[in-house]
Amino acid sequence: MDIARNPAVTEENTQLADAPPEPKQPPLIRREDYQPFPWLVPQIAMKFDLGLEATRVVSTLTVARNGNAHHSPTIRLNGDGLELVSVTVDGEPVTDWSMDEGDLILPLSGDAHEIEIATEIDPAANTQLMGLYASNGMLCTQCEAEGFRRITFFPDRPDVLSTYTVRMSGSKEQFPILLCNGNKVAEGEGENGTHWAEWHDPWPKPSYLFALVAGDLVANSGTFTTCGGREVELNVWVREADLARTDHAVESLRKSMQWDEEVFGREYDLDLYNIVAVSDFNMGAMENKGLNVFNTKYVLADPDTATDADFDAVEGVIAHEYFHNWSGNRVTCRDWFQLSLKEGFTVLRDQLFSQDMQGEAVKRIEDVRILRSAQFPEDSGPLAHPIRPDSFREISNFYTATVYNKGAEVIRMMRTMAGPEKFRAGTDLYFDRHDGEAATCEDFIKAIEDGAGLDLKQFRLWYSQAGTPKVGVGMEHSGGTVTLRLTQHVPDTPGQSNKQPMQIPLKLALFDRDSGEHDGEKLVVLDKAEDTFTFDGFAKPPVLSINRGFSAPVTIERSLASEDLVFLAARDDDSFARYEAMQELVVGHIVAAAGDGLNEAGREAGRAAIREALGAILTDESLDDSMRGELMMLPSQTYLMEQMLVADPGRIHAEREGLKAFLGEALKSEFHALYDRVEKVPYDGEGARGARKVKTQVLVYAAASDPDKASELAAHQYAKADNMTDRQGALMVLAGLHTAARTDKLIDFYRRYQGNELVIDKWFSLQAISLHPNAIEHVKALRDHEDFTMRNPNRVRALYMAFAGNPQAFHAETGEGYRMIADLILELDPINAQTAARFVPSLGRWRRIEPVRAALMRQELERIAAAPNLSRDTYEQVSRSLG
Ligand code: TRP
Ligand code: ZN
Repeated sequence: MDIARNPAVTEENTQLADAPPEPKQPPLIRREDYQPFPWLVPQIAMKFDLGLEATRVVSTLTVARNGNAHHSPTIRLNGDGLELVSVTVDGEPVTDWSMDEGDLILPLSGDAHEIEIATEIDPAANTQLMGLYASNGMLCTQCEAEGFRRITFFPDRPDVLSTYTVRMSGSKEQFPILLCNGNKVAEGEGENGTHWAEWHDPWPKPSYLFALVAGDLVANSGTFTTCGGREVELNVWVREADLARTDHAVESLRKSMQWDEEVFGREYDLDLYNIVAVSDFNMGAMENKGLNVFNTKYVLADPDTATDADFDAVEGVIAHEYFHNWSGNRVTCRDWFQLSLKEGFTVLRDQLFSQDMQGEAVKRIEDVRILRSAQFPEDSGPLAHPIRPDSFREISNFYTATVYNKGAEVIRMMRTMAGPEKFRAGTDLYFDRHDGEAATCEDFIKAIEDGAGLDLKQFRLWYSQAGTPKVGVGMEHSGGTVTLRLTQHVPDTPGQSNKQPMQIPLKLALFDRDSGEHDGEKLVVLDKAEDTFTFDGFAKPPVLSINRGFSAPVTIERSLASEDLVFLAARDDDSFARYEAMQELVVGHIVAAAGDGLNEAGREAGRAAIREALGAILTDESLDDSMRGELMMLPSQTYLMEQMLVADPGRIHAEREGLKAFLGEALKSEFHALYDRVEKVPYDGEGARGARKVKTQVLVYAAASDPDKASELAAHQYAKADNMTDRQGALMVLAGLHTAARTDKLIDFYRRYQGNELVIDKWFSLQAISLHPNAIEHVKALRDHEDFTMRNPNRVRALYMAFAGNPQAFHAETGEGYRMIADLILELDPINAQTAARFVPSLGRWRRIEPVRAALMRQELERIAAAPNLSRDTYEQVSRSLG
């Protein structure tokens, strides 16, 4: 209600009511409120006069009324913290403009106009790392999702597509390299030691794909000839000192381009592809058209400084951003609710690529592990949302494992149901039908339906219903027939209850107990709350292997006898199912032991079954070591906590450590024999990656069962390591032990790599995630280390994300871990809100933790909520977590 016009509010009682105003809630934006923008902006020309502390931007927008939209007498141009220097329309200065929450509103009477706007910004003062900012003396941009409005006034939304022409000028000494989207069309020298370059991007794009980089950079260059004969120049731009670590990135880019032609029929569409590595970056990387900007973490790699996992991550992220050129850029999103249209699909594409590069079995297991540790907790907590959300206050909060990773799983299910060839026909149709458009998830589903010949009517529920479905499995056997009884239930999530049954594709196999064989994999599709499926020709009850390859992102609820799990862990021919059987065996045991408790006999029986299964894994000569390494890994504490309605982190941790110690001792000679074998494999030797994985896994068990021996082995592994995988693995184990070698090697590591940002990040992380009983004290000391800074997101994450993921430290009974994360959020929020808000979910899990800790967690969330001037990002996450 408008107070001024309410007669009941007199002068007197307005004063009485003069209590501090309720902090204003950032508005809720709803998917169903989507309206097309009333104006088109077919072209924009920009001029940048570059300076670290002051950059002048002049942009010229060609605008025309959007035919079918309603007649609007104004145009709203988004802005965020911008200083308006001048504005003209059709060459005439405008005076009757107005501002609304940072947006510029201009009167426009005709059907077509030219708007010229000058703004001035201070990149060096931009600590949010959104818009144009300075990093190590260079200038770069990050515009997704809403950063462009921090550069100039513009309809900063993904359904407004424009062609960009950009001219930039600046000091030749400070910024010898000037880059933008598309192709360089002209360059020259200016006055006073300046130079300039003009770039043109022929492909219309939304503002979030704009990028500009200016700095002192060198390139590792290569070429790629496309299937259509286009010769593309490839450059990976870095600081001179980093050049030696860029070969893997260039090679990964070439492989990605080749693969996308072969597997998805997608050809690159410019003569130039630039990648720039930046130290200060909020996320992994950004797919700006023709000019990707990357976190250095996903570009730089060599054997001395990067682990095998780091090499894979570089390859995967380079592929991801490259694949966006079609799934994201050529076909973009209508609005940010459609984010999974580009992200879910592109994650699936990068996963399939990595499967082809690195081997399908292990990659699938890794991807499921990520989904379960990052996405399942979202789905079962206060921040649960569908892969296509219905509302948000701050879009940055929706770059989640749900939108990305569950989004990929949902599209993978379509592929499973269609088969790869028909799925390809669907994606071809999608790209063809929507090229040059801003599309919706619905457009994607429709194209797959039409192209692959599927009926996805019910399947669409995966886009609207949040929560991980639970699938109950029962099996009966009689008269040669097996009857499989499947049920499903989609749990309630905030704002959603009484959900409908989904379409769930499940791959399964029925194993003969004696021969260990099965009669072929089958695909059943569960689409009712309850259904039965029968299979004939079974003289004896078979062993059921279900959700093979993790064909659906669900939780399977079944109670298999532990001898059946041991059977599957040893013999299943589906690698994922084999891994899964091993996980289930351990999860069942730890949950029982840490929950209602097991008596001694129960604990012994549980441990004996796990010992038998792990023993078989350690000695199976037909298994490759990469897969062996996966099978040796115990389920993470996060995943274990996720299995319990209310978890006691202390008890789970104790049970898990106790089990490790038991296994390390019980299988001592098997572990030793294995270590002796893999230790001898040279860095480049046959199966060397697997050998390195197994090596550190053995140390992990030894650390629990025989810390002195483990310290000795790890110190030795560290000292003779000729690569980062072995060195980091050894140091990780040492960091958790209370021995002299721990201090020695931590000092050595720091000295050896001082000045190498990415490796020093590892040094911070290893100490913050360590099993050491004093991890909290270590983190506090590291906070005061001269290399710690709140300004660099990689460094903040290295210390504090690692710490928030360290169950025994973060969940310390005193609540000190919670307090430290809350303090961090409050201190970081004004500097970098996007990064600060990403720490909130760790505290938001309070409902699923035992009551004493839950109260302490809630208390910290309330303390954050009470702070004045919270960012939209943190406000939204905290209020949803308390709500
Ligand atoms: N589109 C990017 C990707 O997934 C994500 C991204 C990079 C991003 N930087 C960001 C999202 C900053 C939000 C804010 O490849
Ligand atoms: Zn992406």
